[in-house]
Amino acid sequence: MARHLAVTAALWAALTAVGVWAALTADIFPVAAAREAHISDDAFRLLLVLSVPVLTFVLAALAYSVVRFRSRDGSTDAPPQREPRAVAIAWVAITSALSVAVIFTPGMSGLNELGWWSAPAPDLVVQVQAEQWDWSYTFPQYGVTFSKARELPLPVGRKIRFEITSVDVIHSFWIPAFRMKMDAVPGIVTTFTVTPDRLGSFEDAPVYRVQCAQICGTGHPRMATRLVVLTPADFESRLAKARDGG
Ligand code: CUA
Repeated sequence: MARHLAVTAALWAALTAVGVWAALTADIFPVAAAREAHISDDAFRLLLVLSVPVLTFVLAALAYSVVRFRSRDGSTDAPPQREPRAVAIAWVAITSALSVAVIFTPGMSGLNELGWWSAPAPDLVVQVQAEQWDWSYTFPQYGVTFSKARELPLPVGRKIRFEITSVDVIHSFWIPAFRMKMDAVPGIVTTFTVTPDRLGSFEDAPVYRVQCAQICGTGHPRMATRLVVLTPADFESRLAKARDGG
């Protein structure tokens, strides 16, 4: 019995080492262009790393059992086994504790970092209006509206609060480069705050876009806007041009 456990544990440790290395180094994320995107990516990476020992535990026990306890005399079944009660209790206790732990980190701690409960005062407000099948953006501090916009300009390094609503059905305001998404619901205003931290545009990487992420009719897949993250100076001149009718 001790030998079975020792071999399985060694196999588990080896698979876990390889799996954790792969989970930590794999290049799995598209371009991240906001402070919030890194928080999301870090949480995803942490959950991936935490899931490795669970997967490898099952794989190691399975692989060892298949090889070591295979039928040798042509019979198709082994006598039924009943695990010790302590093993069952430990299994439930450990997996439950892990599940509760990830609710707090990265769950609650991540939401707190994203300003879920106490959003920081924004530098810039953008009012977002969804309709079948276009996005319109108003910058109240500049008196500028991009109606049925083809492009959404934003400044880098500024705290931006989106105030999102819809005039018809439920849409979802999603910016993949920022890893943030929020429903656009008729009759109410939903919000989130982001701070872009990387210049770029749709031409650099297709994740620089606003994409509707809620089925909203036949035009749903076309309900997108190119995003361009500019220096504050370029952003100011872009908005000034729009205000003057350019
Ligand atoms: Cu709007 Cu899908």
